[in-house]
Amino acid sequence: MRAQHTKNGRPGGGAAADAHQGPGGSRLRVRTVEIRPGEVVLIDQLALPHEERYVTCRTWREVADRIRDMTVRGAPAIGVTAAGGVALAAAEAAAAGPDDPGALRAALEQAAAGLSATRPTAVNLRWALDEMRSVWEAALAAGGAASRPAAVADALLLRAQAIHDDDVDRCLRIGGHGAGLLRAGDRILTHCNAGALATAGYGTALGVVRSAAARHPGISVWVDETRPWLQGARLTAWELQVEGIPYRLISDNMAGHFMRRGEIDGVVVGADRIAADGDVANKIGTYSLSVLAREHGVPFYVAAPLSTVDLATETGDGIPIEERDPAEVTTFRGERIAPEGAEARHPAFDVTPAAGVTAIVTEVGVLRPPFGPALAGACALGRCGP
Ligand code: MRU
Repeated sequence: MRAQHTKNGRPGGGAAADAHQGPGGSRLRVRTVEIRPGEVVLIDQLALPHEERYVTCRTWREVADRIRDMTVRGAPAIGVTAAGGVALAAAEAAAAGPDDPGALRAALEQAAAGLSATRPTAVNLRWALDEMRSVWEAALAAGGAASRPAAVADALLLRAQAIHDDDVDRCLRIGGHGAGLLRAGDRILTHCNAGALATAGYGTALGVVRSAAARHPGISVWVDETRPWLQGARLTAWELQVEGIPYRLISDNMAGHFMRRGEIDGVVVGADRIAADGDVANKIGTYSLSVLAREHGVPFYVAAPLSTVDLATETGDGIPIEERDPAEVTTFRGERIAPEGAEARHPAFDVTPAAGVTAIVTEVGVLRPPFGPALAGACALGRCGP
C-alpha cells in the first residue's frame, strides 16, 4: 500500500501548525518527522521546495520505502524515522499476532533488518535500531505484563518519540558549540543539506549557521547546489530563505573560484559516519571541498551528533559507500541530459580524511585533532554509534 499524501500543512495541523515555531527560535515551522501512535508522518523532501506536502506511513515497510526513495533523507532524520518504523512494526505485530513474545521478537528483527538495509552509509540508522532493540530486549527479558506485545509496542513508541526529541536537543547543543567558532560577517560554505530537514529539527551544519546568525551580525552562506540530487539548491536554499539568513547558491564547481578570491571564510558540513580516527563520510563532493579548504587555509568544520560516530570502524576505508542509480546522474527530473547509452556512476558519499578536518562539533563540545582520543573521550560522555 502506498503511503498517503496530505497537501499544504501537517495532517490535522491547521492553525496549530501555522503557529508552530521551530526549535531554538527557528522560523522554520515544518516538522521533518512526526512519530504518532500508528503512523509516521514525513515532510516530502521530493516535493520541496515547490510544494509542502506530507506523507503518512502506517507500516514499517512503507517507512523503509520512503527512506530508500529519499522522501526523508539526512543521517539523523533517517535514524529517527527508522525508530518510528520499528514502533509501527511492534504495533502491527501486537494488533495481529498472538500473545507470543517469540513471534514479536521475530517480527521486530525482520523490520529492523529491512529498515537497516535501506541506506548503508549513515550509521545513525543502525544506532537508532540498536536503541530500539535494547528497549524490546529489556521488555522481553522482564517477562510478565511488560513483555506482552501491546506493552512492548507502547514502550517502543515512547522510545522512538524520545529519540526524535533527543535529536532536536543534540542539534541545539551542536549549534551552540559551533556558533563560537564563527565570527560576525563570516561567509560560510555548506554542502548538501544538513539542516532541519536532515534531522528531527534545527540541523547540524545549518544548526551551527542558525545559531551563529542569531549571535553574530552579518553571517551569510554559500550554498553548494550538490549534484546530482540537489539537496543544496532545493532544501538548504529553502531553509535559509525561510529563516531569513542571506545566502547565495553556487554550482559545486565554483567553490575553488570563490576560495581563491578570499570570499569564503569557513566550511561547515554534516556527516553520515565518522570513523574512530576522525575520517568523515559525507555527501559526495565534501572531500573535494576539504582539499580546496586546506589549499586556501580556510577552516573546515564537521558538525554531527555522537550517533554519527562509529568507533567500531577504524578508518574511513571501512565505511560502506552507497552507490545509487546512475540514472540520477544521466537524467534531471526524469529528463535525459546525457546521450542514450551513456554510462555513469553515482557514489552518494565520499570520505574526507581526518587530516582535512579542522574540528568536529558535537553536542558535547568542539573536538580538535588528534581526533582518535578526542572521539573516544566524547563517546565516554554519550552513546556513540555501533
Ligand atoms: O543522501 P542524503 O541527502 O541523505 O545525504 C545527506 C548528507 O550527506 C548530510 O550531509 C548528512 O546526512 C548529515 S545531515 C545532518
